[in-house]
Amino acid sequence: MTTFADYSEMIPNNIDLNSDRRLKRALESWHPKFINWWKNWGPERYQENEVYLRTAVSVDRDGWAKFGHVKMPEYRWGIFLNEQKNEGKIGFGEHKGQPVWKEVPGEFRGPLRRLIVTQGDTEPASVEQQRRLAATAPSLIDMRNLFQINVEEARHLWAMVYLLMAHFGRDGREEAEILLDRRSGDPDKPRILGAFNEQTPDWLSFFMFTFFTDRDGKYQLGSLAESAFDPLARTCQFMLTEEAHHMYVGETGITRVIQKTCETMRSKKTDDVRKYGIIDLSTLQKYVNFHFSVSLDLFGSEQSTNAANYFTQGLKGRYQEARIKDDHKLESDCYAITEIENGNFKTSEVSALSAINERLRDDYIADCQRGVDRWNKVIKDAGISFQINLPHKAFNRQIGNFSEEKVSPSGSVLSPELWDQKRDDWLPNDEDHEYIQSLMTQVDEPGKYADWIAPPRLGINKQDLDYPYVRMQ
Ligand SMILES: [Fe+2]
Ligand SMILES: [Fe+2]
Repeated sequence: MTTFADYSEMIPNNIDLNSDRRLKRALESWHPKFINWWKNWGPERYQENEVYLRTAVSVDRDGWAKFGHVKMPEYRWGIFLNEQKNEGKIGFGEHKGQPVWKEVPGEFRGPLRRLIVTQGDTEPASVEQQRRLAATAPSLIDMRNLFQINVEEARHLWAMVYLLMAHFGRDGREEAEILLDRRSGDPDKPRILGAFNEQTPDWLSFFMFTFFTDRDGKYQLGSLAESAFDPLARTCQFMLTEEAHHMYVGETGITRVIQKTCETMRSKKTDDVRKYGIIDLSTLQKYVNFHFSVSLDLFGSEQSTNAANYFTQGLKGRYQEARIKDDHKLESDCYAITEIENGNFKTSEVSALSAINERLRDDYIADCQRGVDRWNKVIKDAGISFQINLPHKAFNRQIGNFSEEKVSPSGSVLSPELWDQKRDDWLPNDEDHEYIQSLMTQVDEPGKYADWIAPPRLGINKQDLDYPYVRMQ
C-alpha cells in the first residue's frame, strides 16, 4: 500500500488540518481502515487501473476541481467547507438571527450526531451497492462516471467523519469506525436506510439510482446546508457541488437509453424492441416506478415530531430556506398532507412544523418531474406517443401514511389481492430483471458503446468521447 508521510498533503483541505494535531491523528488512524474498506467493498477490480477523475482541491467556484488519471486507492479524499454565508446568522427556527454555532451545543449533541451518522451512512452504502457494475459498463466513459461517483461518495463519507471526529470526541471516533462496519444489504448489520440496502444489479438501475436516490441526497444535504451548526452547513454546501454531477449521470444515462429505444422503435416500426436487444419503454417505466417509490420513503413520515424539533432547534432547515417567503419559524403555519380514509384520499391541513418531511418530499417530487419532462420531450421529439409518468405518491410505499395501503401507479386504492395480481405490470419482475441483465456486457474500447444505449453528447472536461477515460491494462 502506498503510504503518505504527510497527511496534510494527503488530505487536501481548507480546515487548517496542520494546526489541529488531535484531529489529524484521529484521521490518520482512520485512514488505513478506510482504505481497507475501499479495497474490499469499493469497486471490484480496476483498483490498479488509471481512471480520469476529478479531485476537489478548493472551494473556489471556478477552480474547485482538478482532472487527471489516478489509481483509485491513491485518490486524494479531501475535506472542504464552503465559505461562510448569511453573515454567519442562523436562518430559521427559534434561534433565527443569532450567530451560527461553531461548536455543537451540549443539548443538541445527540440529534446532531444522529443526523450526521444517518447522512454519512448513505455514502459508503451506495459505493457498496455499485461495486460490481464496472464489469458490465456499457462504455469507458460510463465506467469512469461510475468510479467518479464512487470516489466522491467516499469523500462524502470523509466529510461526515471529519465532523464526527472534530466535534463529537470519542463518540464521534466510534461512529466513524461503525460507518465502515455496516454493510449494504447485510441482514446482520444493514445500512441505516432501506433504499441503501437494495441491490444495484445493472446499469439501468444505476442510472435510476443516481437520478432518483442521489436526488434524495441533494434534498437532504440541501436542508442540512441550512443548519445552525456551521461546520455541518458549510460541509454540506460543498458536497452539493459534487452531487450535481451524480444526478447528471443519471439523467443523461436514461436520456441515452430513451434515444436508443426511440431510434429503434422508429427504424423497426415496432414497440416490441426487446428482440433487437433494446430496452422497451414500458420496462423503463417499471424501473421509474420502483426507484421513485423507494426514494420517496427516504424522506420519512409525513408528520414527524423529530423533524419539527430539528427545524425549531435550527439543526435542519428546509430546502433553500432563504428563498422561501415566510417567517422561517412556522409557529402558526399550515401544510397540506394526504392520507387514505375508508379507501378515499383525504387532504388535511396540519401544522407546517410537523410536516417538514412532507414539504421536502414535495420539493423533491417537483424536481423529479422536471427531469421526467425532459425525458418525455426526447420521446415526443422522436415522434413517438408514449409518456413516462411518475407513479402516484402513495404507490408502493413502506413508510408513512400509505405504508399499509395498496395503491396503483395512477392513484387508485385497491385491495391487496388485486394489487398483487397487477404487481408484475407495475414493478420490474424476474423476467424484466433477467432481460436487462442479459444486455449487460462490458464495452471497453474507447468511443464504443453497448447496443442498448446511445453515446453521450459530451465528453468529460471537454475531452473527446474516445478519450481513454479508464486505461485498460
Ligand atoms: Fe453523497
Ligand atoms: Fe451522490
